[in-house]
Amino acid sequence: MRTRITELFGIRHPIIQGGMHQVGLAELAAAVSEAGGLGTLTALTQPSAAALAAEIARCQAMTSKPFAVNLTFLPSVNPPDYPGYVDAIINGGVRIVETAGNNPKAWLPTLKAAGIKVIHKCTSVRHARTAEAIGCDAVSIDGFECGGHPGEDDVPNMILLPRAADELSIPFVASGGMADGRSLVAALALGADGINMGTRFLATEEAPVHPNVKAAIVAASERDTRLIMRPLHNTERVLRNTAVDRILEKERYLGEAIKFEDIAAEVAGVYRRVMKDGETDIGAWSCGMVAGLIQDIPTIRILIDRIMAQANDILRTRLKPIFNASEECLD
Ligand SMILES: Cc1cc2nc3c(=O)[nH]c(=O)nc-3n(C[C@H](O)[C@H](O)[C@H](O)COP(=O)(O)O)c2cc1C
Repeated sequence: MRTRITELFGIRHPIIQGGMHQVGLAELAAAVSEAGGLGTLTALTQPSAAALAAEIARCQAMTSKPFAVNLTFLPSVNPPDYPGYVDAIINGGVRIVETAGNNPKAWLPTLKAAGIKVIHKCTSVRHARTAEAIGCDAVSIDGFECGGHPGEDDVPNMILLPRAADELSIPFVASGGMADGRSLVAALALGADGINMGTRFLATEEAPVHPNVKAAIVAASERDTRLIMRPLHNTERVLRNTAVDRILEKERYLGEAIKFEDIAAEVAGVYRRVMKDGETDIGAWSCGMVAGLIQDIPTIRILIDRIMAQANDILRTRLKPIFNASEECLD
């Protein structure tokens, strides 16, 4: 399948694996790229720029295909070593960067001068338009369904994607709630040039996370995620567990007076213990509503091949006959 996204990134299938904290390691990114999609390393999971450089080299040893690095720009009093991470990306010969969080404007001249293609992830049409205006090559549109940070507008992809199609000239991918060939065809119909997935890639054989995390996603339904940190205007969609129930209880009784410190025990620094040690109940971790569509833990190649086969089947055996029948009616 050829779209503006496969052309832009030089990949076989219009399927991207979004950056995921403590998950976007070389094993995952390389497996996605080897299977014809675009894998992504997550820069901030690496403790230093030197560690990111080593992770990029490890990924390059596993695949000769293109892969991206995610740079998440967080509001922070003590920001991570972004200049060091950007140097590691450029010196490592990475050709694609996924930016997320704050406006990446300050970093674009450096990235573009190095010939790097930038895809910015955003949750609203106005932010996507800004990304286009500042020179991003593509955007990833994260709908309200998505795992992680859906923003504060609460617009699901059924509305957000056609709105983005109406307003953007650069290619964009649909992100949030994407799981299979049906998602891909729907995303294309709504104007996107491909899909970006997080949660679906977590429940795969190669995802370098504890089996408990994968099992929790398979066990979950589409009704099992919750939104936390809304009063802090930093909303995150997470899988419901006992820690998340505690957070929501605190948010209820503290209301707008809540501070990050009130929930830090359940939110800060828990990812490693969840993802590596499988302590899935100790804190909040991102998960999309799409968990309801995930029933197995396939290899990444099987997953991607299955998505493409299902998408082709829908186009050929469902949509083409409808199209042909409509044509006949017109005759
Ligand atoms: C466990 C997990 C961790 C994530 N961490 C990040 C991150 O560090 N930076 C980022 O830009 N997006 C992050 N995301 C968001 C994903 O890249 C992607 O946009 C999102 O998962 C898409 O929605 P879906 O889960 O419905 O596929 C994370 C998502 C998950 C599930």
